[in-house]
Amino acid sequence: MNITVTNKLAQRLMEASGEPVSGQQLADEFGISRTSVWKHIKDLQEKGYEITSVKKKGYVLMGLPDSLEASTIQPLLKTKRLGKTIEYRASCESTQIIAHQLAQTGVPDGTVALAEEQTAGRGRMARKWDSAYGKGVWMSIILRPDVPIQRAPQFTLIAAVAVVRAIEEVTGLRPDIKWPNDILVNGKKCTGILTELQSDADGIQALIIGIGLNANQEPADFSDEVRDIATSLKMESGGHVSRQELVRSILFYLEQYTEIYVKEGFGVLKLMWESYSTTIGRKVRARMAKETLEGIAEGITEDGVLQLRTADGKLHGIYSADIEM
Ligand code: BTN
Repeated sequence: MNITVTNKLAQRLMEASGEPVSGQQLADEFGISRTSVWKHIKDLQEKGYEITSVKKKGYVLMGLPDSLEASTIQPLLKTKRLGKTIEYRASCESTQIIAHQLAQTGVPDGTVALAEEQTAGRGRMARKWDSAYGKGVWMSIILRPDVPIQRAPQFTLIAAVAVVRAIEEVTGLRPDIKWPNDILVNGKKCTGILTELQSDADGIQALIIGIGLNANQEPADFSDEVRDIATSLKMESGGHVSRQELVRSILFYLEQYTEIYVKEGFGVLKLMWESYSTTIGRKVRARMAKETLEGIAEGITEDGVLQLRTADGKLHGIYSADIEM
């Protein structure tokens, strides 16, 4: 079976957006026999594509397999750069590790590593990240922006805005951002973002933006440590959420926003981030490695540093902390 033809046929049915396409038409378009079309359709059905055959009209695609394989994701993408190359794993330690290895081999800007499961998913501050099989989006995106190293944290903030927009679009939920990059729904964390850097004397070689998005977990899927503070989009919206749609939408917005960034700078994106922020303007406690400070979170700087004013009137720049509100 020619896999490329099978994938292209899937793409053709997706593009038909629920309209039937006749077996003869597919046979003509792909230069194959109708029997061969039927074999490819059977192959897709075995992979989890829901395809029905409507009498005298043709094949209709009713649903996609719940998989993040490149062949399922790429036909959905509306991007020019992001996701053109996808490295997929059913299981891996961490998509960050894969992306770091890929970045060193010189893969292009916009390359994405995706996995169904991570056995050693990692979060900020060397914490572990629960990454159950098929329940979430475990994705690392390689960007190669031509900006000085100090600007790297801005990309984490841009990614957070892209993820919030995607969640809104796909689920209708209204997420908040908790500084620096936690995405909450109804006060519980549904997404974390971890940005890592490869750099040398010439500046940034690659930014690895790791996104862990809890899509379809039930409470029992979370470990005891995080069960009370974590949530999934399914738990908040009450229905199964399409992980493919989330990937499509995140990559779309991230591409749009990085283009805005290149053309217009960080200003408008900072405003967007602030509009979703649940931290700014609130009394917060910032727990850092060596001290804990309490005060009002007044805003973020152009570099994403949190400005915290303590009761004595002093303004502190917080670079990395756990925030309690
Ligand atoms: C956080 O601590 O909030 C950040 C969590 C980031 C998790 C994602 S899942 C995909 C990528 N691979 C990893 O191992 N971590 C990031």
